[in-house]
Amino acid sequence: MFKIHADHLLTPIGKAPKKGHEMKKIYEDFDVDIYIDNGMIIDIKKHTITEHVEFKAKLVTPAFTDAHTHIPFIGKRANEFYLRAKGKTYSEIHKEGGGIYNTVNQVRTASIDTIVKENLKFLNLFEKFGVTTIEGKSGYGLDIQTELKQLKVIKYLNEISNIKVIPTFLGLHAIPHNKTKEEYINEILQSLDVFKEFTNTIDVFCDKGVYSPEDIEDFFVLAKTRGFKLRFHADEIENVGATKLAVKLGAISADHLLKISDEEISLLSNSSTIATLMPGTSFYLGESFAPARKLIDNGVGVALGSDFNPGSCPIFNPSFIMHLALRFLKMEPEEILTAYTVNSSYVLGFENKTLEPGNACDIALWNTGDFIDLIYMFDINFLSGIIINGKVKFYETV
Ligand code: NIG
Ligand code: FE
Repeated sequence: MFKIHADHLLTPIGKAPKKGHEMKKIYEDFDVDIYIDNGMIIDIKKHTITEHVEFKAKLVTPAFTDAHTHIPFIGKRANEFYLRAKGKTYSEIHKEGGGIYNTVNQVRTASIDTIVKENLKFLNLFEKFGVTTIEGKSGYGLDIQTELKQLKVIKYLNEISNIKVIPTFLGLHAIPHNKTKEEYINEILQSLDVFKEFTNTIDVFCDKGVYSPEDIEDFFVLAKTRGFKLRFHADEIENVGATKLAVKLGAISADHLLKISDEEISLLSNSSTIATLMPGTSFYLGESFAPARKLIDNGVGVALGSDFNPGSCPIFNPSFIMHLALRFLKMEPEEILTAYTVNSSYVLGFENKTLEPGNACDIALWNTGDFIDLIYMFDINFLSGIIINGKVKFYETV
């Protein structure tokens, strides 16, 4: 047993997900001891001098959970970044066989060992900035064998790293070049049980030029009956009705939502589907931002993620994502903390990621007493320590 002596404690409390105005309710306390034993929070009470090993922190929050990344991948796409800066669009590059296909080619030819090693480096970066759980997904295979290869990489990463990578199967990320959509969906259908051995979540890029709601509805209904939770890359490039379908099928999360309509916002607010938003992608592609303020004001639960991938958002830094969330999604700091901890954890299947006795919660220790500093000075890393599965690590910080 040891304890953290927190000058300032900030945490969402109670059951996730937090929707609408509930997202702003954060428990705050000062000068408290958090007792931790075997990975569990045993007690939180006013600071007293005891004989327990004690670590001091200016601010303590739950560690962050990134609800949406495209780890594992390999290779860079800096050439596309340069082309976009000169005026080409993401969709044009995709149509010409670059974009996702560019990464697919690199992932298909790389060995499992190489992909594991490269992505382990990324996980270390996440950890250094206070993120201890992330979503990872396939989607850079576009054939059964390589999609499985990516899911195996996630399995190995979980064995090797402290960071938890929660897997999603995103076979329907783009249309493979050598077959029709129908042929590919059919192939996936035949192998669904094999994918189920690696993950219980399935996702689709449901958008213009990729898969339409009509293409995937029957398949997703079937996946649900086989026990998959559903996620959607929804209405990112154009509104094709993806959010409507996500709500209709009871998806756990509809992601991106740049082009969501008012009608769909009200559908979401009456559903249990969480809106997972990635302002890093809007920033990186120079696109509009999702209407987060409207979503929250209408009672929707919002989670945040980086969308970390080599094309549309090679940004992992949670401070920068939170900065964008405050400035462009018009979210309040308390809402941002909720969206990056308890709500993002909920999307990935964890319900107890709050600092409360009885919870097994990873913890971030910060070298500033003010949470807003993390957002305000996003390129300073304020993390002074991290507790993952009850094990403590300290960092040198400002
Ligand atoms: O979430 N929208 C589709 N997929 C990713 C991009 C992946 C890539 O460009 O490699 C996204 O933005
Ligand atoms: Fe994505």
